[in-house]
Amino acid sequence: MRPPTPPQSAQGRPASPAARRSHALVVFGITGRMGQSLIRAMAEGSVFQLHGAIASPESPRLGQECAAEGRPTGVMIGADAATALKGAAVAVDFSLGSAVGAHAEACAQADVPLLVGTTGFDAAARTQLARAAERIAILVAPNTSVGVAVLRGLVAQAAQALGEGYDVEISEAHHRSKRDAPSGTALSLGEAVAAARGRALPDIAVYERHGVTAPRGEGSIGFSVIRAGDIVGEHTVMFAGGGERLEITHRASDRMTFARGALRAAAWLLDRPPGLYGMQDVLKT
Ligand SMILES: NC(=O)c1ccc[n+]([C@@H]2O[C@H](COP(=O)([O-])OP(=O)(O)OC[C@H]3O[C@@H](n4cnc5c(N)ncnc54)[C@H](OP(=O)(O)O)[C@@H]3O)[C@@H](O)[C@H]2O)c1
Repeated sequence: MRPPTPPQSAQGRPASPAARRSHALVVFGITGRMGQSLIRAMAEGSVFQLHGAIASPESPRLGQECAAEGRPTGVMIGADAATALKGAAVAVDFSLGSAVGAHAEACAQADVPLLVGTTGFDAAARTQLARAAERIAILVAPNTSVGVAVLRGLVAQAAQALGEGYDVEISEAHHRSKRDAPSGTALSLGEAVAAARGRALPDIAVYERHGVTAPRGEGSIGFSVIRAGDIVGEHTVMFAGGGERLEITHRASDRMTFARGALRAAAWLLDRPPGLYGMQDVLKT
């Protein structure tokens, strides 16, 4: 297991007394909606000190200093993961699906555990994550809110109790800028239903219906997606049987719920042995 890492500035400046009491955190996607929420959540008195701040190589913010609640942090925004990860205790990723694999490899090289909050990554990235998890602890959390982790457990319980006689439809709504669909959370809820029924989601998922369609396939799971305005994130799982309907809904109204959950998960990762983990593991302890 890695010894506790004394925080130090990514730019080689001596760490402040406050930094010495806290853990050095690197954020991939610092300039984005979630990156900015993380900075605010850290300022609420978390055990973390910002140590490295990564944006895309094309970001107009490269070279600028990160500010937390208007106060400078001494951390410059960069695009070089290896440099930012030197001396870090843990990293969190809220960037772009296509960048996740490379970020995981950089963390494995630097021996820094990683929380992956980013969604929309492909099978190749999944393989890169599994390979990196042989060297470091990686927690993949398409949704870091505690409420959604509870929702997932309730959905699995309902799927098991109700069986395939109940049709399952999953709907989700997000803001107009979201890039992947259905959301990583909707897919993970679908996986929870499929697993409870002993099925694999790709075999039973229905992502599109348009025009004249065949009748609903027994045991299939339908997904519907809304992209509009500034919706932070809403998910409903419907179980519809003959004569009754059960709907379980989660609504996020503030990104801070994801940011606080991410910091809680990052703190949980600090002493973990290598392996792939999920939010359920965080809630167990
Ligand atoms: N797990 C959860 O609970 C949760 C909650 C909300 C969102 N998410 C997911 O988190 C991700 C980010 O969401 P968001 O709303 O914050 O997105 P966003 O506002 O578009 O921010 C994306 C960030 O990623 C950076 N970025 C883009 N390409 C990159 C690359 N190749 N390497 C490094 N950084 C790169 C961007 O930098 P520049 O634009 O400055 O170049 C920006 O800082 C999405 O996948 C979203 O679905 C997860």
